[in-house]
Amino acid sequence: MTNERDDVLHSWCVQADWNAPTIVAGEGAHFIADNGQRYLDLSSLAECMNLGHQHPAVVAAIQRQAEQLCFVTAAWGAEPRAALARGLLERSGFDGGRVYFTLGGADANEHAVKFARQARGLPRGRVIARERSYHGASYATMALSGDSRTQAQVDPDAFGVLRVPPPYSYRCPFGTTAPADCGDAAARAVAEAIDAHGAADVAAVLMEPNAGTNGIVAPPNYWPQLRAETRQRGVYLIADEVMSGFGRCGEWFAWQRHGEAGRPDLMTLAKGLTGAHVPLGAVVLSAEVAERLEHEMLYTGLTYCGHPLACAAGVAALAAYADGQLIERSRSLGRAMFERLRELAQRHTVIGDVRGGDGLFAVIELVRDRDSRALHVPWPGVSASLRGLVARALELGVSLAVRGNLIILAPPLVIAERDLNDAIDLIDRLLAEFDWS
Ligand SMILES: Cc1ncc(COP(=O)(O)O)c(C=O)c1O
Repeated sequence: MTNERDDVLHSWCVQADWNAPTIVAGEGAHFIADNGQRYLDLSSLAECMNLGHQHPAVVAAIQRQAEQLCFVTAAWGAEPRAALARGLLERSGFDGGRVYFTLGGADANEHAVKFARQARGLPRGRVIARERSYHGASYATMALSGDSRTQAQVDPDAFGVLRVPPPYSYRCPFGTTAPADCGDAAARAVAEAIDAHGAADVAAVLMEPNAGTNGIVAPPNYWPQLRAETRQRGVYLIADEVMSGFGRCGEWFAWQRHGEAGRPDLMTLAKGLTGAHVPLGAVVLSAEVAERLEHEMLYTGLTYCGHPLACAAGVAALAAYADGQLIERSRSLGRAMFERLRELAQRHTVIGDVRGGDGLFAVIELVRDRDSRALHVPWPGVSASLRGLVARALELGVSLAVRGNLIILAPPLVIAERDLNDAIDLIDRLLAEFDWS
């Protein structure tokens, strides 16, 4: 069997170090290598396989659509595209809004910014985003992201991007100790940035509501306050729900936890939209934003925008979340997972913080010293012990996601309770096995 090691240029790694097994099959929360080794997927790969691997209803929908019609451009209508747009507007309650389809998360964020700017009549209007965020790896989304890995490659100023400190309450950049104070200060920092530059020049604020690869989980007061501050100033709020959507945070979309007080003007989706069975992203626009674009030329497009195969997968995915009551399952299992992780924190002093738990998403933050919260190696480096822990877990058939000093748990929403508990037991044992001094 051919191996891609020498021929494919791989993402986010040193090419010479890439040496992963070939995966040939998947089933629920597991994926399987060509040597037969089964892996329990505790991160839904890139936090995207919310429905698990090879969800039968999604696979069948793709097969049916492939037999009927693989592709037609957005210049023509396509049934699955219409059905998915309607389904998303209904699930999000964006009555009278519209949906623009993209190929993934980065281009969804780029388009959300385009639409917000056009709707505000500010084609180059400023956009406020935050430090320690991730919105994609295209040039504009690198400019939007506050990501230490890519910041040298792009000048945010050239893209009209302003950055503000994040609502990272464990290491609050505003020097607060209570999470609510950090949430409050971070939302006020956005308001101050808008005021400093003039609301007339700021088109939008783009933020991840409740989960992201940089491991920040905002305190509960942050999002509604951010919404109130942006609304007061007439600046659009874009929720990047690429990771936090589709049950990951215990709701269809994470902002819904706050009800109408959390409703953004636009939201971006990808990953769980098809459960990663086929690439697809989307921008959902509120009725107000859509209305402003209604009689203007839209100068943008993607050849594969609203690809019927992907949309058919999306329609089946929406049904699978609802039929399996997976959003509710994520909420209750997420709470249980979070409680177990907090118990682990009582036993292992290397755990500085555990956050998340609104759904099947939690972050374990490791520290060398609990009092000083010192890291083992500077962010975003990964300590030798944590690398060892991940490698050992993999040998034992559990795949974990790690960023810097963070273990990010985001299993498929279909994971068996017993598998999840066994995996947490394994993390417990491995934390005791490695040297964290
Ligand atoms: C919050 C968030 N936004 C955007 C993206 C980019 O999505 P994509 O990799 O599909 O371009 C990601 C990917 O991890 C993400 O987590």
